[in-house]
Amino acid sequence: MDGREALRRYLEQRKELGETELVLDTLSVEEAMRILGAAMTSSSREAEPSADWRSAIRAAGGAPPARPSLGTPAVSENVANVTSPPETVVPIAAPQGLVVGASARVPFDDSVAKLDTLEVIARAVATCTKCQLYATATNPVPGTGNPNADFMCVGEAPGASEDAQGVPFVGQAGQLLTKILEAIHLKREDVFIANVLKHRPPGNRNPLPDEVTACSPYLVRQIELVKPKVILALGTFAAQTLLETKLTIGRLRGQVHRYYGVPLVVTYHPAALLRNPSWKRPAWEDVQLARRILDSAVAPGA
Ligand code: URA
Repeated sequence: MDGREALRRYLEQRKELGETELVLDTLSVEEAMRILGAAMTSSSREAEPSADWRSAIRAAGGAPPARPSLGTPAVSENVANVTSPPETVVPIAAPQGLVVGASARVPFDDSVAKLDTLEVIARAVATCTKCQLYATATNPVPGTGNPNADFMCVGEAPGASEDAQGVPFVGQAGQLLTKILEAIHLKREDVFIANVLKHRPPGNRNPLPDEVTACSPYLVRQIELVKPKVILALGTFAAQTLLETKLTIGRLRGQVHRYYGVPLVVTYHPAALLRNPSWKRPAWEDVQLARRILDSAVAPGA
């Protein structure tokens, strides 16, 4: 089959499956390069003899999101099975992303700003009636982990298991998150894990804007108290909420954003990784980027 036709069919197939981003899982980089190389003019081939597939696609007229140059991390086939940590501190070479807020202090004039410990926040969340979600939820899910964590994960909202236990990320997606953290040599109890919403939306429906408005001060205050060195935003919803943007996750990942001074890396939600295993590879790049930021932030003299 003609290479261009093969690539077209492949992309059609991914589109029909509901994917809007190009992740080369069943098609190796070599294959894509060969296909695109065949479609490229000789001058563009000469111009970019060692370009990566993104450059090749750009040269062929496509415009995939810009990716960082991440040194030479080992890319895992399966995030869940990765055990080798980054051996050394690799200089961070990633594009700078969005900046939300100007300083480390997050200003909001809400009673939540006066809550001075994570336990106090958890108690406030437990009696919160600022939106209707408390009425249908079984338990509040304020957040869990090390109150002084350098690494913080932020998800969307509790699901059924989290609602039942009052703890974030304990269902299937949570188990994958635990493995992802272990892959970068972090234990769950060493990090702080929270969601944008602290009560489960019924039937796991998407959070509503007024729920986000009502609930986000808790998260903001949690971040302010924990003072993480890096935040990993899990999934589109957390990323778009924290970064106050409608940009897609494909545009947001691969960059180091700033959330009130705290470096913030975006990656796919673990639940999305369970549905789309091909996204584990880019997710692994993201978590390694977050790990490198952490390493450089806690390195002696940092
Ligand atoms: N998905 C989330 O975003 N958060 C959880 O706590 C569980 C699943």
